[in-house]
Amino acid sequence: MDYQSRMREKAAALRQKDTVRILAVESSCDETAMAVVENGRVMRSNAIASQIDVHALYGGVVPEIASRMHVEALDPLLDQALAQANMTIDEIDAVAVTCGPGLVGALLTGVSWAKAFAYARDLPLIAVNHIEGHVSANYIASPDLEPPFVSLVASGGHSHIVLVKRYGEYETLGATRDDAAGEAFDKVARVLEIPYPGGPLLDKLAEEGDDQAYHFPHVKTPGKYDFSFSGLKTAVINQAHHIRQQGGEINAADFAASFRRAVVDALTEKAVAAAVDTGADKLAIAGGVAANSLLRREIARRGAAAGLKVFIPPKGLCTDNAVMIGAAAYYDLLRHEPAELTLNAMPSIRMF
Ligand code: KG4
Ligand code: ZN
Repeated sequence: MDYQSRMREKAAALRQKDTVRILAVESSCDETAMAVVENGRVMRSNAIASQIDVHALYGGVVPEIASRMHVEALDPLLDQALAQANMTIDEIDAVAVTCGPGLVGALLTGVSWAKAFAYARDLPLIAVNHIEGHVSANYIASPDLEPPFVSLVASGGHSHIVLVKRYGEYETLGATRDDAAGEAFDKVARVLEIPYPGGPLLDKLAEEGDDQAYHFPHVKTPGKYDFSFSGLKTAVINQAHHIRQQGGEINAADFAASFRRAVVDALTEKAVAAAVDTGADKLAIAGGVAANSLLRREIARRGAAAGLKVFIPPKGLCTDNAVMIGAAAYYDLLRHEPAELTLNAMPSIRMF
């Protein structure tokens, strides 16, 4: 029997198995990560090799360097992921990998590694959409969470509000028309001379600032659940240049706090409205921007005030990791045939 036919049989057998352990691989941007996840819900290990220190020298992610560092990190991460899980390689039932969206060279390193692993170990291969992975981090953080629910997904490249109708079944309710929220954080951080990665450091600085000190325009809201951050970003950057040209000084903490307030208010307002309007009554957050301290507080406060049950994963599961990929992969395995060995990286794969 050829590999693909064998894998279909193996996948069918796994769907009947009590405990399914998936080794998950993530390499879409600047973190290489591997994890073992049990039944889509239990994190057995979470190994991450961050490249932040290297990219910080250049003020942002250098794709070629990212790819090379992923290649070096992948093999050692397997040992770490198994050791943390206290498991042997023989206990792995399937391998999952992020196939997109992301940097093509970076994605290819993980995809090639996972394909080789699947073939060598004679295991099913599961291809995971990175954004679906972000949403699925909530399954690990909240073992009781079941669809339907609404999720805000805000990362470096995406800002979406999605309705998770069933496992693996999504409806996009709204999205940004231009910049992603994380991208806006990173660009404003640069103007404040906050080093890469801008988002988390700007967040920290904003905790010390007065969010009413500067007045920025409201985030434009082109559709009911859509966002547009580019107008705000440009206004903020122009105001910084203007103050400096006049010889004035910017209070960086106040500036960061005022900007963060504008972004978070827009995200929170729309996400809460979507969860209320759809009747889902459950609101989850996901993606790197979900690590933002103010967003977490505001979603909790305003979500509860609107009668919603709110799900906020720990910060480490909001930013890129492989645990979320393993969670999404399990539900993919239950519903679909495994991926083929011809799997390619899909850098611009659509949201869902
Ligand atoms: O999900 P993620 O780790 O990678 C992508 O898939 O893009 O998101 C990274 C983005 C970056 O733009 C980063 O600045 C932003 O998330 N981010 C934050 C925070 N932590 C990460 N933005 C605001 N506040 C934070 N605490
Ligand atoms: Zn991500």
